[in-house]
Amino acid sequence: MLDKATNNHSSSLIIHQIKLGMDNFIYILGNKKSGDGAVIDPGWNASSILANAGMLGLRITKLLLTHHHYDHTNAARALIQHLYKPDVQVCMFHEEIEFSRFECPHLVPLYPDEIISFGPYNFEVIHTPGHTPGGVCFFIEGNLFTGDTLFINDCGRTDLPGGSEVILQKSLKQLVERFPDETIIYPGHDYGPTKKATLGEQKKTNPCLKFD
Ligand SMILES: [Fe+2]
Repeated sequence: MLDKATNNHSSSLIIHQIKLGMDNFIYILGNKKSGDGAVIDPGWNASSILANAGMLGLRITKLLLTHHHYDHTNAARALIQHLYKPDVQVCMFHEEIEFSRFECPHLVPLYPDEIISFGPYNFEVIHTPGHTPGGVCFFIEGNLFTGDTLFINDCGRTDLPGGSEVILQKSLKQLVERFPDETIIYPGHDYGPTKKATLGEQKKTNPCLKFD
């Protein structure tokens, strides 16, 4: 699925959603004009991800990991083999690296509310623990990539190591309070009736966002 998000830049942000593995959504983001490309949660099939990036005319330089779980990270090493090494960054929240002892070449720790520059854009790093201690969402140009924190009409499980239902609730509340209703939610798995939705729609239909 190919979306073009509207933004303030001369050319639009490409958001390309691929479904692989355990109903995982892998996202290729990029700027057509500059050719800058990034992958959020590179799982399962490096060849397919590279082929899609090539089709879009993008050169991948950043791998952004919402959390350490295998299904969101298992193609990172294979992808790196095919990328231009000096530029490559594999980004994961520092607390997630410390908790999981995740290892990968070109690993860069992220910190709360850090801004990652990406071509003409900026990614904001939003720490959203609960599914895992160092899980994050990435916000770019009105789009929120939620990994296993928030799905369409559901949210991430909290029974795995480091998970906490109470903490996840706080993270979800933070997202609702911080972002406007028109924010587009891009989940880490295809578990819902649609592949994306606005935050406003989710506030009406997602039981995980009912805080009363
Ligand atoms: Fe997960």
